[in-house]
Amino acid sequence: MTKFGLLKNKIKTFFSLFSWEIGVDLGSSNTLIYLKDRGVIIDEPTMLARQKRKRWTGLSAPKSKKSGPIAFGLKAKEMLNREPRQIEVVSPIKNGVISDLEALESLISYYLKLVYEIPSKYPKIFKPKVIVGVPGSINQVQKRAVKSVFLNAGAKEVILLEEVVLAAIGIGLPMNNSSGLVIVDVGGGKTEVSVISMGGVVVGRGIKTAGNDLDNSIINYVKMKYGILIGPNSAERIKMEIGSFSKKNEESKITLVRGRDLETGLPKTVKVSEVEIREAMAMELTKIVKLVSTVLDETPPELMEDILKRGIVLVGNGGKINGLASLIETETKIFTKVMEDAGMMVIKGCGELIQNREILKQVKLVSGLKE
Ligand SMILES: Nc1ncnc2c1ncn2[C@@H]1O[C@H](COP(=O)(O)OP(=O)(O)OP(=O)(O)O)[C@@H](O)[C@H]1O
Ligand SMILES: [Mg+2]
Repeated sequence: MTKFGLLKNKIKTFFSLFSWEIGVDLGSSNTLIYLKDRGVIIDEPTMLARQKRKRWTGLSAPKSKKSGPIAFGLKAKEMLNREPRQIEVVSPIKNGVISDLEALESLISYYLKLVYEIPSKYPKIFKPKVIVGVPGSINQVQKRAVKSVFLNAGAKEVILLEEVVLAAIGIGLPMNNSSGLVIVDVGGGKTEVSVISMGGVVVGRGIKTAGNDLDNSIINYVKMKYGILIGPNSAERIKMEIGSFSKKNEESKITLVRGRDLETGLPKTVKVSEVEIREAMAMELTKIVKLVSTVLDETPPELMEDILKRGIVLVGNGGKINGLASLIETETKIFTKVMEDAGMMVIKGCGELIQNREILKQVKLVSGLKE
């Protein structure tokens, strides 16, 4: 290296001490943020509560002021379906893609401001560099939208990487050899199944069926069977408490469900059992299992040996549903396991890339990103 090159590198290293880097897992259900040298500092629902916009349009309509956000994250989720008339709770990401740009911009600026205020090793003088995980199936327009949200919120550089590649790094899969692994990411709004080798996706497919659809199927089941209307947060609680697909345990767990009786309009409580919830979720879970079979069908035979050795790995919080792994294992005859901290794999991968420049270089090379 020339003298000039060495000096340039030294200057770069010096300034990199003062630049701050963050990783973001922008999920349909949860947003996680990793700050360099600090770890995961934000883990909140991707939700925002704001004043409702006026529906009155036309020349005679009063000039509307921008609808101001009222609550973010967990506070907003708690308000869901209990909000006063003038307020609405929105999820800016649906099925992995942006559905409300304005809301996402407010949410991201709020979180970046929070991260900025958190003390770190060096002062945050420059604008941050951001690594964002995106679904493999999103198109160029959606990618540009994600990028512009972060740039508008004050980022200096935005690197978009596929969530599944980040998850593979989070799991600890070596990036530089052809080690095949099947990753099934079951999130809130989408499920992606991908075969990873050499730090890239060999085959990948996604569907819009995931955790939220399981909640909806519970809502519909309770409505049809007991004539009771329950909210999404209650359905999610039931799913987490007694949602299971393992047929082994004979004694079925039971939980109480409170909702509004559709006939009388009055509150009503009923008992629902594990078996009933399994019945409610069966169709949606089958779709996920079928997707795994389809991807395996498209996988190059050369990778099969590796896959048989390493097995199938479930990531994403939706993958924690009891019995899903054994269901996939029965169907595919391939060893399947759920990662501990399944929902943290993508953000862990982001963290690994932020802390280790060599892996980032390798991943950028495979993804065709500029150095
Ligand atoms: N213990 C659990 N058992 C079953 N499901 C769970 C459990 N914990 C969380 N979930 C579900 O996981 C889903 C959220 O998963 P995750 O946080 O991985 O999604 P996301 O990354 O925000 O969304 P996506 O990847 O779809 O964009 C929710 O539907 C939630 O109900
Ligand atoms: Mg996710």
